[in-house]
Amino acid sequence: MEILSKLYEGKAKEIFTTDDADQVVIRFKDAATAFDGKKKGTIQKKGIMNLKISALFFQLLEKEGIQTHYLATLNDRDMLARKLSIVPVEVVVRNTAAGSLAKRLGLEEGTSMSLPIVEFYYKDDDLGDPMINHYHIRARKMADDDTVKEMEENALAVNEILTRFLKERKIQLVDFKLEFGLYHGKVLLGDEISPDTCRFWDMESKKKMDKDRFRRDLGQVEEVYEEVLSRMEGSNK
Ligand code: TMP
Ligand code: ASP
Repeated sequence: MEILSKLYEGKAKEIFTTDDADQVVIRFKDAATAFDGKKKGTIQKKGIMNLKISALFFQLLEKEGIQTHYLATLNDRDMLARKLSIVPVEVVVRNTAAGSLAKRLGLEEGTSMSLPIVEFYYKDDDLGDPMINHYHIRARKMADDDTVKEMEENALAVNEILTRFLKERKIQLVDFKLEFGLYHGKVLLGDEISPDTCRFWDMESKKKMDKDRFRRDLGQVEEVYEEVLSRMEGSNK
C-alpha cells in the first residue's frame, strides 16, 4: 500500500488517498477543538491514543457483527480504512443527560434516561452542526430512508455493545457520536470512536474521562485519555 495525496484535512484527522481506490489512510492528529472550532488546543499524544482506542472499538464491533471502515493500524497515527462516501448526518446516542441535552431539556447532568435517545445532526461546521430529524434528512436528500434506518439500528446496537464492554472496565458510557458512510452500496460505520467523540465517566466517582476535560478546562486531559486506553487494554478488573 502506498500513500498518494492528501484528500482532506479535518480538525482532528487528515485523510490520504492510496494506490487502492477503495482505501484511505486516516492520520490522527493531536490538535483539539471544541465548540465548532472556536476553542483550539493540543492534547499531547491524543492522535496516538485515539487511534488505539478507535481500533479496539472497531475490532470489538466487527466481532459483534457491525460493519466498519476499519482495516488495519499501520503505525502510531495511521489507520488504513475503507473509503466511504460520508453521510452528512451525525448520529448521537445518549444514555445519561449531559452537554447539550441537559441544557435543552433543563436536566441535571447525570440524570439517567429511561431509554437510549437517538439524535441526528447535520454535519456542517459553518452552521454549527444543527440538530435535524427524519423530515429534514428526507426533504434535503441527505440519506435515503433505508440508510437512515440502518444508521439508527446500528447506533443502538453499538450502544449496547460498547455499554457492556465499558461497564466491565468500570466506565459509564454517557453518550457518543457516530458517523456512517456508504461503501459499494453498504452502510458502514466510519470516523472514530474515542474520548473526543464520546462521554465516558468513571462508574463510581463519575470523574469525566473524555474531551469535556478540554472543553471545560478541567485539567488532566492527557491523563484521562491514557486511563481510558489502559482500562480498555487491560483485563476487566
Ligand atoms: P453534545 O452534548 O455536545 O450534543 O454532545 C453529545 C456527544 O456527541 C458527546 O459525546 C460529544 C459528541 N460530539 C462530537 O463528537 N462532535 C460534536 O461536534 C459534538 C457537538 C458532539
Ligand atoms: N468537535 C467539535 C468541534 O471541534 C465539537 C466538540 O467536540 O465540542 O468544535
